[in-house]
Amino acid sequence: MFEATDPNALQLTSDGQLRHFLTTEGLPRELLTEILDTADSFVDMSQQQVKKVPLLRGKTVANLFFENSTRTLSTFELAAKRLSADVLNLNINTSSTKKGETLKDTLMTLEAMHADMFVVRHADSGAAHFIAQHVTPNVAVINAGDGRHAHPTQAMLDMLTIRRHKGDFAPLTVAIVGDILHSRVARSQIHALRTLGAGEIRVIAPKTLLPRHIEALGVKVYTDMAMGLRDVDVIMMLRLQKERMQSALLPSESEFYKLYGLNRDKLAYAKPDAVVMHPGPINRGVEIESEVADGPRSLILDQVTNGIAVRMAVMSKAMGGQMAQRGELSQEEQA
Ligand code: NCD
Repeated sequence: MFEATDPNALQLTSDGQLRHFLTTEGLPRELLTEILDTADSFVDMSQQQVKKVPLLRGKTVANLFFENSTRTLSTFELAAKRLSADVLNLNINTSSTKKGETLKDTLMTLEAMHADMFVVRHADSGAAHFIAQHVTPNVAVINAGDGRHAHPTQAMLDMLTIRRHKGDFAPLTVAIVGDILHSRVARSQIHALRTLGAGEIRVIAPKTLLPRHIEALGVKVYTDMAMGLRDVDVIMMLRLQKERMQSALLPSESEFYKLYGLNRDKLAYAKPDAVVMHPGPINRGVEIESEVADGPRSLILDQVTNGIAVRMAVMSKAMGGQMAQRGELSQEEQA
């Protein structure tokens, strides 16, 4: 665990531009909407023959993954390449930290390579904040998932997917289902949905997988799928985070599937045009049945496509904020 400071003091410039992207919590609605608007234009661009823009030309993006990932790492890599950046992928899981190098030494080494942006995934909550506090002022830090705390680009790609299919957030009832306790995705989704004005946010989980005081985030809590899914517009399933479960929180996977696994029968509780999402990787037959995951209401693959566009939007905005900040700093220096 790392110490926490006010994230917005860190992630925004003095005139409110994005400089690092660490959490969706507390970011203003206008900024979230701007990210979605920019991402929309990148989705359109990805349908063109030439998929590249020069927004990050001459910049170096280092993907620092202290924890394994397939889709997040590969979509960040593609996003950086489509912005014309040079990209360095460091799977730190298997490199220097294993040899005893400290995080600060790893950072200093990368700074000496003149990286302009660090995309960070780490098993400890607060790691991206810590790095943003300790990097030189001209490096932007993007959180690609820290412990159970936050996964802000995942939440924003989910928001983009919802907006592209449903339009306005205000009339929507959204249910987040499954292992809320261990989920950085759920926390970031809840903050983003609230800020964007979703009508009603529900969480559905067994008591053992609900964090204490989750209601304080502004959600309605259900432990029963039939009641929780009634009339919802969007169902966001979560993966059972078995690697994070220190004790037996569940009787068994098959029991979980019986009560909370999304199949056709449970989907029928939701509105007839309800859509189904999942951040992946999916555990078929544990949280979701293949028939639903691969069915016409599933947006799971759209989420992957939209992930590239959202990551392009976040990276280009953070780089813009970083450069604006640098301009401010050098004016101060001149004064
Ligand atoms: C999520 C993550 O890593 O937090 N997945 C992802 O980013 N694609 C969710 C998960 O692992 O369950």
